[in-house]
This record gives sequence, C-alpha cells and structure tokens, in this order.
Amino acid sequence: MTKFTHFTYKENSLYCENSSIKEIVENYNTPLYIYSYQSILDQYQLLEEAFNPWKNLLCYAVKANTNKAILKTLFNLGAGADVVSGGELSRALMAGCDPQKIVFSGVGKTEKEIESGIKNNILQFNVESEQELDAINNIAKQLGKKAPIAIRVNPDVDPKTHPYISTGLKKNKFGVNHKQALALYAKASTLNHLSITGISCHIGSQITETQPFYDAMVKIRELIDNLEKQNITLNNIDIGGGMGIPYNQEKIPAAHDYAQAIMTPLDGVKGTIILEPGRFLVGNSAALITKVLYVKPSEEGLLFTIVDSGFNDLMRPMLYQAHHDIIPVTKEATTKDVITNIEGPICESSDRFAKERKIPLQKQNDYLAIMSAGAYGSSMSSTYNSRGRPAEVLVKDNLFFLIKKADQLEDIIKNEVLPDFLN
Ligand code: LLP
Repeated sequence: MTKFTHFTYKENSLYCENSSIKEIVENYNTPLYIYSYQSILDQYQLLEEAFNPWKNLLCYAVKANTNKAILKTLFNLGAGADVVSGGELSRALMAGCDPQKIVFSGVGKTEKEIESGIKNNILQFNVESEQELDAINNIAKQLGKKAPIAIRVNPDVDPKTHPYISTGLKKNKFGVNHKQALALYAKASTLNHLSITGISCHIGSQITETQPFYDAMVKIRELIDNLEKQNITLNNIDIGGGMGIPYNQEKIPAAHDYAQAIMTPLDGVKGTIILEPGRFLVGNSAALITKVLYVKPSEEGLLFTIVDSGFNDLMRPMLYQAHHDIIPVTKEATTKDVITNIEGPICESSDRFAKERKIPLQKQNDYLAIMSAGAYGSSMSSTYNSRGRPAEVLVKDNLFFLIKKADQLEDIIKNEVLPDFLN
C-alpha cells in the first residue's frame, strides 16, 4: 500500500489530489486538516473488493472521524456505522446512515443511549456484560419492542499493538470470555424482549499482522459452532475493526490478506460478515497543516522547531508516542536537512509531534504537513489552553470545500455559566 497516494509534490509544492496545499492554507489559515476525498473512496473499495466473495457489511467506526462530510462520503458508498455513544448514533443518522446498518458497540451504554438505539431500529447492540443484557431487555420491554443483540466476545488474543489500543486480551475491560458468552446467549434466549442476531468481537487497533485476526476468528468459530449445536443461529458475525495502515515504514498486509486471515477460520459460516473499520478507511486520507512559528537552538545543541499546532489538535504523538511523517509543504532545493524536535505551543513538554526528526531546515512562516492525520486526529481534538480546534477542508480533485470551521473563542466558552454570587 502506498502511503499517501493523494498527497504528492508537483514542482516541489505539496498537493492534495490536484489542489495546492499552500493555496488552500492561504484561504483558511493554520492549523488546518486537509482530507483527500479520493483516498477515502480508494480505501473503501479495497476493503469492499477484499470481502466481496462473502456477504458483508462495512460499518465505519465513526469514532475515527466524525465529520459529517466524511460520514456522508462513506454512507453514500453504502457503508453502515459502528457507533459507541448516543452522540455518534445521532451523527450517523443525521448523515443519512440506514439504521439497519448501524451496530452499537461500547462497554458503557447508558439507558438513554440504549433507548435511542431501540427507538431508531438499529441493526444490533454489541453487548458487553450480563447487566447490560438485562438493561437492554428491560428498556425494550418498556418500549414494547424486541432489541437485536450480539454478545461481544473477548477472544484473549494479543493484537501486538500499542497497549492503550489493545482490546481483546482478558485483562482488558471489553467483552466477555467464551464461557460467559455461552451463558449470556443461553440467558438471552430466555428473555422476551431480545432477539439474538449475532456475535461480535474487536481485538484492537492499528494491527499490522494477520495472525491475531486469524487466532481470534478460530476462537469465534468455536463459539459459533457451539451455539449452532444449541440451535442458536447467528445472522451477523461482527469481526470488529483494527486493520492497520502505514504511518512510518511498517509493512502492512494487503486488504486481501486480512480478508483471508479472517475468513479462513470462518469458512462456511452462514450470515453476514460485519467489519468495523475506522483507521483503515480514513487514516491516510488527511494531513494536518501547521505553520512554523519559531526555530530556536537549545543550550544542549538541540534545535526546536515550534509550530502553531499542538496536541489539542492531534493527540496521537503525545498519547501513544505515535509516529507521523512530517514533510514540508514547499521543498526548497537549497535547504539542508537538520535534526530537530517539532514542538507545539502548549505549555507541556509532552506537546511534541516529533523528537530528533530529520527534516529540511524550516524558516518562520513555512508550512509543515503532519501526515496520516485522518483517523483519531480531529475526533480526539480538544480546546486545551483555550485553543480553538482547527478548520477542516475536503479536497476533490482541483476543488476544495470547507467541511468544518475553526472554533472561535465564543464556541469554546459558550456553555460556561457564571453563578450569580460571583457577579
Ligand atoms: N470497533 C470497536 C469496537 C472499536 O473499539 C474500535 C476502535 C474500532 C471498531 C475501530 O478500530 P480501527 O479500525 O480504527 O482500528 N485513538 C486510538 C485508536 C483507538 C481505537 C479505539 N477503538 C489511536 O489514535 O490510535
């Protein structure tokens, strides 16, 4: 997989598709998220083709990027949604997702969220505990309905990724083990306001090997066969998300290889294979463009390149020590490479995008592109340090469209209330 097919240099100037990034930035200022529309279409098509031999449904994991233009792009292609909150459910519905293509995951669904899922006739709740199963049954009863459920199984497989984004090990809070799952299915079949529709699992994120998927599916298959013997038939086999993308030099399996690893153990199972990809679809579709504010040497001989974006805009490097390529928006033939830390303006030492990174020496007001920023970038941004979150632009060939305005101070403070006694 080529990393950034739709971010290329033309005469030393970085383009997104056929739009000049410098020109876009001059219209909207920095920091600025820039997305390639075509990149999302391409990634969707890759996955769709890989799973085409099997009856499947791609439920985009909304948490990766919640912008409604991105959601609409995917729903227009036929994607469903994997949501983990009432807010995500509402966003998916507002962006036109078919409720019968929505799965509701998450270890802590509230009563209100469950109610909303039932009222909106979603495809399935992925249930993570016995108490949640009871809660869904009770709420469905109050509403005079039957709620569709799958049990989320924790297959206890090491996804070999960052510990913060591993979810399928028995020490993780997610899902239930094999034995508990069997007990929950048995219980669910006795509850009048539930209908058993499937099984689900999700072992982690940014998984760059196929083996963990294979291992997890072997365990899921055992369970499916076991349930079949008890006459519990599953319509939906939800295998979760987690397929990785290249951020640095990682070798990533092709979509087809992920599909083989997942489907070999599931050979012959009836029902629809549901996937919940997030990062795979949008991760490499975007760059976060930032402006160089100052370049200063330290006493120890380090060089700091201070930029106008911080971890409030893109948290991944600070939170997971994640690598993101950082490249100049304009390459100048005469500029020498230097080793520099690329640091944000936030008042914390962890506010750093890269440590001792080799890039061409930057001048004040040059622009840098922080790559692979499409997933878990904007959706994890905050307003820490009272910094407004960046604007976002979607590029389609030589056209570009504002899809989110930057926060203004009023947006950040509008929900704060001053008690009378302080006036
Ligand atoms: N399904 C479930 C139940 C999930 O919990 C997740 C991600 C996904 C699907 C989508 O996973 P993906 O295909 O995007 O790997 N903030 C972290 C990633 C956290 C992922 C949480 N769950 C990061 O920036 O790397």
